[in-house]
Amino acid sequence: MNVLILSAGTRNKIVAYFKRALTAPSGERTGRVLATDMSLLAPALYEADAHYLVPSIQEAHYFEKVQEICEKEKIQVVLSLIDPELSLLAAHKQWFEERNMVLLGSSLEVCERALDKMQMHDWLVARGYRTAESYSCLEDFERARREGRIDYPVFVKPSRGSASLAVNKVYEEETLHLLWRKTPGLMIQEFLQGQEIGADVYIDQISGEVVSIFTKKKLLMRAGETDKSVSFKDPALFALLERFVKDCGFMGQIDVDVFEVAGEYYISEVNPRFGGGYPHAYECGVDHMKLILNNAQGIANQRRIGDYEEGVYMMKYNEVLIQRGEGV
Ligand SMILES: Nc1ncnc2c1ncn2[C@@H]1O[C@H](COP(=O)(O)OP(=O)(O)O)[C@@H](O)[C@H]1O
Ligand SMILES: [Mg+2]
Repeated sequence: MNVLILSAGTRNKIVAYFKRALTAPSGERTGRVLATDMSLLAPALYEADAHYLVPSIQEAHYFEKVQEICEKEKIQVVLSLIDPELSLLAAHKQWFEERNMVLLGSSLEVCERALDKMQMHDWLVARGYRTAESYSCLEDFERARREGRIDYPVFVKPSRGSASLAVNKVYEEETLHLLWRKTPGLMIQEFLQGQEIGADVYIDQISGEVVSIFTKKKLLMRAGETDKSVSFKDPALFALLERFVKDCGFMGQIDVDVFEVAGEYYISEVNPRFGGGYPHAYECGVDHMKLILNNAQGIANQRRIGDYEEGVYMMKYNEVLIQRGEGV
């Protein structure tokens, strides 16, 4: 069983975990892990059994290159680690299915909804889930403020942003207006003051059931990623997440951001892929690579929600990779 990880970037652990999942107890490998990136300076490429340099996903011939690699390397499982590529792959789901390959992830419609935080907000509100009050129109925000439904400080971010880029806590009108003029595509949110939580969820691609959930409290964020976190469990949160992800139609691996404010859980955003904090779940024994490989072999996974220890801490640290060669 060969796995192709697209846009692998700096996600060496994800590559390494798949290699481990493709190793028999005897030490013999049962499949290869291939990685791609648009830069040869993406360290995760060198963690893989083989790698390919590919064009940017914006290029018209990008998907052709993916098809070529899948066929040449006899790939059975394909996944991407970056948000903008999820919709592109989902749009070609049929191509993968016709070739008996498993494309990890949700449908195009669901990927698009998750990519646009304002669209996700509207969906959450319509379905009765708690989420931060949000506005994509300045006049609507100002009216809501006059009516006492929201007040400063507010959180301003691009509705189609990622990696915490261009996010701002804003305390007054002047700064808000300045930001609004400078940057298109922003949204204004109620500032949530509470405990940030990350959830790694696996929705079985055969049964459609939620089979695994790992939750952690985020203790420190750095450069848009969870830097330190601690595992915890709450049956009420598991139940909320299970209901939400099924309701929204997610499939495969997803990463959900939640806030706990005054004892209530607010769903903030979803990345329908492996999140940067997934190693915490894996190192606590929550092995989603195995679940993916089972699905790829036609095996539906058993439900194992919350099967891990609480109070296990994750601390990230830096590593370096050295590679010799011209242009690497
Ligand atoms: N409404 C909010 N109130 C307070 N903090 C927020 C709010 N929305 C986002 N944040 C903070 O900003 C970070 C990035 O925002 P997020 O919506 O997760 O976008 P992305 O991860 O796609 O950049 C979050 O992890 C959280 O720390
Ligand atoms: Mg986020």
